[in-house]
Amino acid sequence: MLKKYTITLIPGDGIGPDVTRAARIVLDAANVGIEWDVVEAGACAIERHGTPLPEQVLDSIRRNKVALKGPLTTPVGTGYRSLNVALRTSLDLFANVRPSKSLPAIKTRYQDVDLIIVRENTEDLYAGIEHMVGKDAAESIKIITRAASERIVRYAFELARREGRKKVTAVHKANIMKCSDGLFLEAARQVAEGYPEIEFEDRIVDACSMALVQNPEDLDVLVMPNLYGDILSDICAGLIGGLGVAPGANIGDGVAVFEPVHGTAPKFAGMDKLNPLATILSGVMMFKYLGEMDAADRVMKAITEVLDEGKYLTCDLGGSAKTSEMGKAIAEKL
Ligand code: NAI
Repeated sequence: MLKKYTITLIPGDGIGPDVTRAARIVLDAANVGIEWDVVEAGACAIERHGTPLPEQVLDSIRRNKVALKGPLTTPVGTGYRSLNVALRTSLDLFANVRPSKSLPAIKTRYQDVDLIIVRENTEDLYAGIEHMVGKDAAESIKIITRAASERIVRYAFELARREGRKKVTAVHKANIMKCSDGLFLEAARQVAEGYPEIEFEDRIVDACSMALVQNPEDLDVLVMPNLYGDILSDICAGLIGGLGVAPGANIGDGVAVFEPVHGTAPKFAGMDKLNPLATILSGVMMFKYLGEMDAADRVMKAITEVLDEGKYLTCDLGGSAKTSEMGKAIAEKL
């Protein structure tokens, strides 16, 4: 078939190659005409290119405008700066979008979760500006700007409008961090005035965490600075069945990188064992971004059928299928 899209594929580290391989088989079976431009980033790239984020990776994404990415290892404490942060800032992928929607066949404590976290992706404590003060103290600087705050809140409202959502909640800790989170909240309130048809509220991050686990149905689209978004989106992943089923997207101006919320799960590297759904669902988000709504619907239908049949489920969903077997089962439905 004619290749309609060239898409950058970054297999990544740990379980990344397993889950992206399975996702690729499924997305190819949807038959929208994808040519994959496979590039290496992460620990595997260090050996071959001397750097975990070779310039050709960024060049490929800039050229193709869309990428599907597996997780990348970031050494804790020392060594390279987070590759994900570097990738997001280099391409100015300012919005991290993480939907959490219950999949009926996956039994969790909640059955009707349907939330979207919109996380600011370029600043806050993740700007990486920190230093030691002498030997026994350290400082990290939290950067919040009006421009980035307005941009992310506007993105959240536009998404809410596009997807027919009812409410946007700004999440913050402005009662304590009056300057930084105070500025975020002020920007959020101003942007909200431009969207009178969508309800707006704000919640303090700790109270919002409790609300998420007590009454997730009270929440709809949530927008917040980087650190809170990182933490709350994992809570939301827990509401719908865990990291194995939580997809995400990093969106910039005309550039987008789709990736599962989970990391490299190094204990399971190369074992063909963990769940490919988070990556496949990230692919569904990618299809929607490309306007391939029919393909997105068909993949969702195939996923639902495989989950309902319950024959090819990975261990986190109570089954014993391999990553590749689950991917193949979904692809065969297509
Ligand atoms: P992790 O998400 O890799 O794994 C934590 C646990 O979650 C795993 O042990 C496993 O039990 C479960 N899990 C993860 N993915 C799963 C899947 N697809 N199916 C079923 N269960 C799954 O988090 P961890 O251990 O904190 O991080 C490991 C490495 O990943 C670190 O180097 C970290 O920096 C990196 N990381 C990279 C991310 C990215 O590239 N976007 C995101 C998060 C972490």
